Amino acid sequence: MAPRKIIIDTDPGQDDAVAILLALASPDEIDVLGITAVAGNVPLELTAKNARIVCELAGHTDVPVHAGCDRPLSRPLITAEHVHGKTGLDGPVLPAPQMALTEGHAVDFIIDTLRAHDPGTVTLCPLGPLTNIASAFLKAPDIVDRVQEIVLMGGAYFEVGNITPAAEFNIYVDPEAAETVFKSGVPIVVMPLDVTHKALVTKPRNDAFRALGSKVGIAVAEMTDFFERFDKNKYGSSGAPLHDPCVTAYLIRPELFSGRHVNVEIETGSELTLGMTVADWWGVTDRPLNALFIGDVDADGFFDLLTERLARL
Ligand code: RIB
Ligand code: CA
Repeated sequence: MAPRKIIIDTDPGQDDAVAILLALASPDEIDVLGITAVAGNVPLELTAKNARIVCELAGHTDVPVHAGCDRPLSRPLITAEHVHGKTGLDGPVLPAPQMALTEGHAVDFIIDTLRAHDPGTVTLCPLGPLTNIASAFLKAPDIVDRVQEIVLMGGAYFEVGNITPAAEFNIYVDPEAAETVFKSGVPIVVMPLDVTHKALVTKPRNDAFRALGSKVGIAVAEMTDFFERFDKNKYGSSGAPLHDPCVTAYLIRPELFSGRHVNVEIETGSELTLGMTVADWWGVTDRPLNALFIGDVDADGFFDLLTERLARL
């Protein structure tokens, strides 16, 4: 089967970095048409820099990296240095990128790419706030029906929020953008905290990354060593949750994941629950089933896949 053509929209972020590495290590399943950076974990200048650092770490300077929106559609930017460090990629010491950004705004790259490929052949993989994706849909409504699928990391339901009691970070940063995407009619697969909090980098799993002995393996071990502090302190969890790599792992081995087709709507009015992904898990409304909301993962299978693929880089 031909590899799935994707655009990765991202705010690296250590977990974004691992998701990008997994995609670039899997050319038989994934054809990365481009990477679009968005403001999120850290400001845009850093997410655009970090995306290139990761491409160079993977030995893939051929991938176009475009800078996108530097703030949400209608709110001030909220960042997460408290989780990812001031660079957004704290942990390993990695060289500044030599590859340049590719000319052109990320939103225009998304629009142009969807118009250039046959309808239903390009998947969008947002790993950060949905500002770039929503901006593209609002600027060029004709591209919405051309999207094959959106597979995103964001939201939470039974697991509740990680940035507020009700909301997960990616959705909370730009709830209006999330509302535009979730109401677009594009088929969406959602990787919420409900599943990503089950993909934890325990010490044996971190040791397996380090035991690869490669630049990539050691860098991933150092990234997750740094990145785990926040979740260990907050949740008492046994390691860093690999949120974003659930997206790219799903594209390679969807059978590792399970979920339910439900309606998901975004809270944009209440300050108390702003950014909450309200999932109609028990079907008590007649709202459209707009999302496959993933709730479980075969964690051992996930980490076996990830470690095997990282070994290729
Ligand atoms: O809430 C976790 C999400 O927010 C992840 O995508 C992480 O990288 C941050 O963007
Ligand atoms: Ca992210």
